[in-house]
Amino acid sequence: MESTVLEKKEVEAEVKAQPYKVNNMMQNPIEKIESPILNIDKLSVSYGGDKYSINEVSAGIAKNKITAIMGPSGCGKSTLLRAINRMHELYPDTHNKGSVYLAEEDIYKMNPILLRRKIGMVFQRPNPFPTMSIYDNVIAGYLLNGIKLKRSEKDAIVEKSLREVGLWSEVKDSLHNKGTFLSGGQQQRLCIARALAYTPEIILLDEPTSALDPIATAKIEDLLVKLKKDFTIVLVTHNMSQAARISDYSMFMYLGELVEYGKTKQMFTMPKDKRTEEYLTGKFG
Ligand SMILES: Nc1ncnc2c1ncn2[C@@H]1O[C@H](COP(=O)(O)OP(=O)(O)O)[C@@H](O)[C@H]1O
Ligand SMILES: [Mg+2]
Repeated sequence: MESTVLEKKEVEAEVKAQPYKVNNMMQNPIEKIESPILNIDKLSVSYGGDKYSINEVSAGIAKNKITAIMGPSGCGKSTLLRAINRMHELYPDTHNKGSVYLAEEDIYKMNPILLRRKIGMVFQRPNPFPTMSIYDNVIAGYLLNGIKLKRSEKDAIVEKSLREVGLWSEVKDSLHNKGTFLSGGQQQRLCIARALAYTPEIILLDEPTSALDPIATAKIEDLLVKLKKDFTIVLVTHNMSQAARISDYSMFMYLGELVEYGKTKQMFTMPKDKRTEEYLTGKFG
């Protein structure tokens, strides 16, 4: 008799505790990533004054995975990406709080040129250098930074990088033509080859397929899935089905805040935050 009463009390206590458990989960939506290659720690970024475009974003980025960053326009996706390889510093009045570590190294204490060799960037609009040949576009990072390479080294880097993006067979006979003669999808793969030529550890891509047709988009998606074997990929995308198709982890950002972060499957099937759910079901954005 005594014991069933006790059991009942325990069950009651457990049930009463439930709401707190749920709340705690809501307040701490950040997935724990095992042995992340990159650690973002309470990062806030301002383009000037005291307005911050992202606020106290904390997240680990899993090695050799694709992490998608989603959210409506203006929520800080590009800002977060830029801050990871310090591109935002190209704007004059930026300042930030918090830290980002690549392995154990504080990226804000690194030489930015060296950092950008380790963390490459691909932009929304394919932007091969218009005056350069396909060949020179691939090794543009070396040329622009005055890094001298032997002809044979250059040839090897160009071929390897173009093979990695599946462009070699398409362009091997026109390497010395301008990159701007290529189709949009080929130009974007050329830009990915340019990033790979520097043998980065991480590749950041900011809506890389939003200017491309569905066939070129599918090629880039297949390519990213293939590349994650050798690289860590962080992909900003407006396209939810793209995130669902190819990413392992997803972030949902809203008004500069990282609202939810976790395994893509989990987020798409059981989002923890109401705002994530509303975004994923097309209620806004
Ligand atoms: N160069 C800039 N100077 C000032 N404000 C900027 C700049 N770039 C972005 N912002 C502001 O930062 C916020 C986040 O922008 P952004 O990171 O581009 O969002 P998203 O990529 O999600 O569309 C927006 O309010 C935007 O107006
Ligand atoms: Mg953007």
